[in-house]
Amino acid sequence: MKIVESTHEAYAHVNHWRMEGQSVGLIPTMGALHEGHYSLVRQSVTDCDLTVATIFVNPTQFGPDEDLERYPRTLEADLAGLRELGTDLVFVPTKETLYPPGFSTYVDEPDAAAPLEGEFRPGHFRGVMTIVMKLFQILPATIAYFGQKDFQQVTVIRRMVEDLNVPIRVVGCPTVREQDGLAMSSRNRYLTQEQRKRALCLNRALSAVSRLLDDGERQVAKLENAMREVLDGETDSIDYARVVDSMHLQSLETVDRPAVALIAAQVGTTRLIDNLMLER
Ligand code: PAJ
Repeated sequence: MKIVESTHEAYAHVNHWRMEGQSVGLIPTMGALHEGHYSLVRQSVTDCDLTVATIFVNPTQFGPDEDLERYPRTLEADLAGLRELGTDLVFVPTKETLYPPGFSTYVDEPDAAAPLEGEFRPGHFRGVMTIVMKLFQILPATIAYFGQKDFQQVTVIRRMVEDLNVPIRVVGCPTVREQDGLAMSSRNRYLTQEQRKRALCLNRALSAVSRLLDDGERQVAKLENAMREVLDGETDSIDYARVVDSMHLQSLETVDRPAVALIAAQVGTTRLIDNLMLER
């Protein structure tokens, strides 16, 4: 497994493989890898001739009061995990390499970036899209893999790839959960034991929506209330608990098209997100 810091070297490897006619899978990450990340790597190893992962805690997607400084960093373990799965190349750039003095060009956000996370983390998707676009340039892969755990992120990246004619295929992969249903996240390690138990309410709130839908409830207001009822006692604050259309993330009154339930809530000082695709 090659570990590369320089953008030129990274590009040369991927470009060389593509010129040979080989397919390359790309998995962008911020490290502190867990089974959620590794599921994307496994998918790429299955689908593609070569697999490239990136590890970079991207400063431009963190707000001023967010956890950039304390974001978990576990590079040695990450590299061992990636090597074991058969990753061919890991791009581990420095902040100075990707954001040298004078850096000032950003990708503008599409409409789908405005609600939900966009409301509570202004500028977040501008940072995400800019770094993902940079990675797509440095590592011109065939397929890029993203987790549905960050549902709005995949939606926004798909939009960017379409709008800016980026020659890469975006594949969304299912959310990997702990046995008890908690969606895996690098941020779960911030939770105390007591908070870890309370954090399960996100998945329980989503299950409540799913049950109500099975019983024939289609009114979004009722579904959203049901989520809040589950979340209220267990979380410390709720950013949103919404049911929106899954294509454009726009508000709905009734679930009359493919929809998704999304939650962002604070447990202790940790902000957690989760979501569930809803069958009609
Ligand atoms: P990060 O949070 O490290 O996640 C990297 C990828 O792993 C994302 O596509 C995310 O959706 C996926 N992922 C995380 N937890 C998952 C889970 N439980 N199941 C399935 N997939 C999961 O998302 C980012 O980094 C950054 O925003 C990035 C795209 C790398 C840009 O900086």
